[in-house]
Amino acid sequence: MAPLLDVRGLRISIATDGGLLHPVRGVDLSVERGETLAIVGESGCGKSMTAQAILGLLPRKARLSAERIDFDGASLIGLNQRQWRGLRGRRIAMIFQDPMTAFDPCYRIGDQIAEIVRRHRPESAAPRAMAAMLGRVGVSAPEDRLGQYPHQLSGGLRQRMMIATALLCQPDLIIADEPTTALDVTIQAQILRLLADLQKETSVGLVVITHDLGVVAGIADRITVMYGGEVVETGAAGAILTSPGHPYTQGLLDCIPTPGETARRTTLGYIPGTVPRPVGELTACNFADRCPHVEPACRQSRVGLAAHDGGRSVRCLLAGARQSRKVEPA
Ligand SMILES: Nc1ncnc2c1ncn2[C@@H]1O[C@H](COP(=O)(O)OP(=O)(O)OP(=O)(O)O)[C@@H](O)[C@H]1O
Ligand SMILES: [Mg+2]
Repeated sequence: MAPLLDVRGLRISIATDGGLLHPVRGVDLSVERGETLAIVGESGCGKSMTAQAILGLLPRKARLSAERIDFDGASLIGLNQRQWRGLRGRRIAMIFQDPMTAFDPCYRIGDQIAEIVRRHRPESAAPRAMAAMLGRVGVSAPEDRLGQYPHQLSGGLRQRMMIATALLCQPDLIIADEPTTALDVTIQAQILRLLADLQKETSVGLVVITHDLGVVAGIADRITVMYGGEVVETGAAGAILTSPGHPYTQGLLDCIPTPGETARRTTLGYIPGTVPRPVGELTACNFADRCPHVEPACRQSRVGLAAHDGGRSVRCLLAGARQSRKVEPA
């Protein structure tokens, strides 16, 4: 059966006063029903642009091209606004970073949830159905909460309300773009675990977008690592987290604080430099300037994704050699 979401060769360019930008440079990704895919990378890697393309929410000046963007067997390329309205919320739901901006501060939270849900699944907008769903996402005394205003709820509760709203619409795919960045670490872990648990029950496909590889460990089935608008590594979460094939993935892993290791490690790892501005066509490995293993060949031509052990694909000329030699970064 075809994947729930199947994206091939997605490219996005934007004309700006500073020249033509290429925030997404040929991205492939797929999500099966009941699967959690994490898209990970630093700020500016093109994660949100990729999500916006899948949701038909790109900025007007952005230009998209793709070999295919298929959702449940049908193409999402070239849909009109009416067709998008039929899909967004109802079949593809989005959970945003800051739940404060998702709710209007002037109206009671229950009225707002009911209005959104009624548009897509009228039967789920009944107060009893809403309260039951709030209970499932861990909101206590849900009837009372529905009568409150957004500012009366903590960030964690607002986020749970947003997840409940998305689930009440019974979508086939949920895209959560940095859903927990505004929350503290314990609440982050709870919310992500909750999303992953609910997702397994309902067999909805879930895409979690984050810059923090640590938060997806334990919830993602597969991980796609993006750097500078490209996929640099993709594969099963276990393989990527235990033996990363790309130096960038390794760098992201080194940035995660590990309990017990803190005594041995006096400083947390970091990746020197910044994500390059997405200008011009690539003629070399995009990560070369920040890579601890860089060799002259890395700067001579663009590097393609290649298959490696553990069912992974890695965009690094030296990935195979480094894995077999187990060379530690300098
Ligand atoms: N409306 C826009 N106009 C011009 N450039 C944009 C616009 N939105 C994003 N960009 C650029 O596109 C690139 C990718 O942005 P994107 O928002 O997809 O990154 P991201 O990976 O989601 O980062 P973050 O973790 O900060 O959310 C960046 O270089 C960004 O500056
Ligand atoms: Mg983003």
